[in-house]
Amino acid sequence: MSARLVVLVSGAGTNLQALLDAGADPAYGAQVVAVGADRIGSAAVARASAAGVPTFELPISAYADRDAWDQSLCDQVAAHEPDLVVSAGFMKLAGQAFLSRFGGRYVNTHPALLPAFPGMHAPQDALDHGVKVTGATLFFVDAGVDSGPIVAQVAVGVEDGDTTETLHGRIKSAERVMLVEWVGRLVRNGYLIEGRKVTVL
Ligand code: GRF
Repeated sequence: MSARLVVLVSGAGTNLQALLDAGADPAYGAQVVAVGADRIGSAAVARASAAGVPTFELPISAYADRDAWDQSLCDQVAAHEPDLVVSAGFMKLAGQAFLSRFGGRYVNTHPALLPAFPGMHAPQDALDHGVKVTGATLFFVDAGVDSGPIVAQVAVGVEDGDTTETLHGRIKSAERVMLVEWVGRLVRNGYLIEGRKVTVL
């Protein structure tokens, strides 16, 4: 039986699309069963709808405070009984309620080689710093900002003349492949998280 993925998104949804496409093959072992967004009308949610996947949209502005939003996110995700929750371009930090419930089965993909360049502007920060190699990281989310135990990383070279857009575009191409490969491995093989070390069995 396929593992159940709930994917959280905010924007274009190309990482989501890669997971939707991978899940079309039963041998992949995981299927996206729901997609949640922190805003109304994202391209990512449109991709989910086109694939016939249920969606929910929870803008923070619709809630009394951040805790109320977090609890609602938690409830909506839980209703779909995920084996793994995947944050793929989801531009919000989950709170205490969400992490208590899904910690250890909530991964995020980030467009830099963590612990370098955490936060919202990683490709720009990498360019500004003048690094020659950057990339993407898949990690288990903890209470910090892009600080949890690392599942996988992929390196991407910085080229002369790169802009944030060209660099992020190449990072995203590599990131999608990494995401699909390692989400599949996590759910098919199982995994151990011991301190900072993640072992896929
Ligand atoms: C990805 O690079 C992700 O790591 C970052 O935002 C991008 C999302 O792209 N946080 P998409 O929405 O999956 O196309």
